[in-house]
Amino acid sequence: MRTRYCGEVDQSLEGAEVELSGWVHRRRDHGGVIFVDLRDRSGLVQVVFDPDRADVFALAESIRGEFVLQVRGRVRPRPEGTINEKLSSGHVEVLGTSLTVLNAAETPPFHLDEEDVNEELRLKYRYIDLRRPRMQANLLLRSQVTRALRRFLDDQGFIDIETPMLTRATPEGARDYLVPSRTHPGEFFALPQSPQLFKQLLMMSGMDRYYQIVRCFRDEDLRADRQPEFTQLDMEMSFMDEREITAIMEEMIRTLFREVLAVEFEDPFPRMTWAEAVSRFGIDRPDLRIPLELVDVGDLMTSVDFKVFAGPASDPAGRVAALRVPGGARLTRKEIDEYTDYVGRYGARGLAYIKVNDLAAGADGLQSPILKFLPPEVVTAVMERCAAQSGDLVFFGADRATVVNESLGALRVRLGHDLDMLEGEWRPLWVVDFPMFEWDEKEKRWFALHHPFTAPAVDAPDELEKNPGEAISRAYDLVLNGTEIGGGSIRIHRQDMQAAAFRVLGIDAHEAEEKFGFLLEALRYGCPPHGGLAFGLDRLVMLMAGARSIRDVMAFPKTQSASCPLTRAPGPADARQLQELGLKLRPRSGS
Ligand code: AMO
Ligand code: AMP
Repeated sequence: MRTRYCGEVDQSLEGAEVELSGWVHRRRDHGGVIFVDLRDRSGLVQVVFDPDRADVFALAESIRGEFVLQVRGRVRPRPEGTINEKLSSGHVEVLGTSLTVLNAAETPPFHLDEEDVNEELRLKYRYIDLRRPRMQANLLLRSQVTRALRRFLDDQGFIDIETPMLTRATPEGARDYLVPSRTHPGEFFALPQSPQLFKQLLMMSGMDRYYQIVRCFRDEDLRADRQPEFTQLDMEMSFMDEREITAIMEEMIRTLFREVLAVEFEDPFPRMTWAEAVSRFGIDRPDLRIPLELVDVGDLMTSVDFKVFAGPASDPAGRVAALRVPGGARLTRKEIDEYTDYVGRYGARGLAYIKVNDLAAGADGLQSPILKFLPPEVVTAVMERCAAQSGDLVFFGADRATVVNESLGALRVRLGHDLDMLEGEWRPLWVVDFPMFEWDEKEKRWFALHHPFTAPAVDAPDELEKNPGEAISRAYDLVLNGTEIGGGSIRIHRQDMQAAAFRVLGIDAHEAEEKFGFLLEALRYGCPPHGGLAFGLDRLVMLMAGARSIRDVMAFPKTQSASCPLTRAPGPADARQLQELGLKLRPRSGS
């Protein structure tokens, strides 16, 4: 139905006869001449209908936006002054000699050029939304990314193996999506949060190198970079340690960016321990493009009169940190108040600051509501420690360490963007040496920071059990521009160590047997040392596309409340289905 794509029509075709098919992007009636921007996947071309051919012209008058057309015509140069440099076809137009309306269209709920369309509406009419050139480019990019990744992994001897979707719970820390079983009334499958256990079993099967581009399901609170179903590039390797695994993964990411975006990454990627990342940036996925750092000043504050600082400074679980903002003295009172509100969202109870108007002038050159509470020598020591200069502003956080880290960590990122401080386009970082476990005060128990199959750095199971809080794991996360794009670890490959890890997590022998008996058993039948990792494909593509949300690089994502406005999923099940499944709904409480 066509000889060319619309976007291919350019000066090289001048004088040629072409046949095109596509959608009406815009139709303009210029008193006697009708212009139609015809659009397909490749781009736009302007088609002109003049009254010389009365029947074609009459038909052209009837067409509207998003009609589907087939057009035949001759390519000719555009008249002086009507050239559009933004289009690949912008130097030419097609004089339409024949026109077929393949399908009419109702007026669409939004025009494709419209910005800021309500997202619910975009998702309801996703098939129209996906006609936007930007969305088409994002999905094309996604396809180029998976192709490049597959090629790399195929070349490196990885085998693409599928794992089940109907399975048992795989603990990655989120809630499971459950699927009731008809043949086993009262029993449920869980959709996989990741193929973690299966890929480990595949190593025990001798597959050596596995990969899969695989859907994962997690029922958790959604954000811009989280969806209830998302895609991982999931990998596992045998007989390799963390150096070898991170090296091959780095090569993969370097190759990907080179092939798809023509970007060269640094070699090797920098590495940082978890403890250093949290101390310097307040977060375990620092955006290294932002040249701001948290500096500890607690030791200087233990005996000051200002309780807000002295308290956390003497508390082992507290932290007092400074964040110097170069040139920040120009921030207005109003802006500082806004930042104070902002850190409040992260639990901070205030945001002290000192403006450094003139460093040489001593106390007179400083401006701050807290100066009166601090001895001059403490102020001087703080200024020295954070290398403050005239024109800077220093923010302070004092609270439990977690509150200071989260609030100043978030403020750091916000300031970096607000004050246009980003340095460098792509800043990858390996974060390593994570703690194995995290203590949950509310539940009074240890949680795995990664997942329960991550190997500790210690060799003896009793060492792990003796001091879980000190245990470091053999895990690694890859962070790119402040987004965690991938994570993994060396796994426990010995049954005694796995049992010890379960005990620390409060999973007793009975529960371990019930939930992971198959894994513990498999570990007894010849399990090689192995490890792997998984990339969040959606996040990776989001960054590469410069998109703001992973929803913009997924064809049919869910809303923030985990529903699909297009298909109206989830929906009720009919009574017969429920009966077959042996399910009975409880009346909804409170409604
Ligand atoms: P993890 O839970 O860190 O590791 O997940 C791997 C990567 O998947 C991405 N990701 C998500 N992307 C979108 N929406 C979500 N809800 C979501 N959750 C996670 C992140 C993350 O880095 N089995 C382990 C991997 C391993 O140990 O090999 C795992 O799933 O980019
Ligand atoms: P106040 O004495 O409460 O008026 O606080 C004096 C200054 O300290 C104000 O600028 C507050 O924003 C700031 N402040 C109060 N609590 C904290 C805190 N926990 N961390 C950092 N700054 C704080």
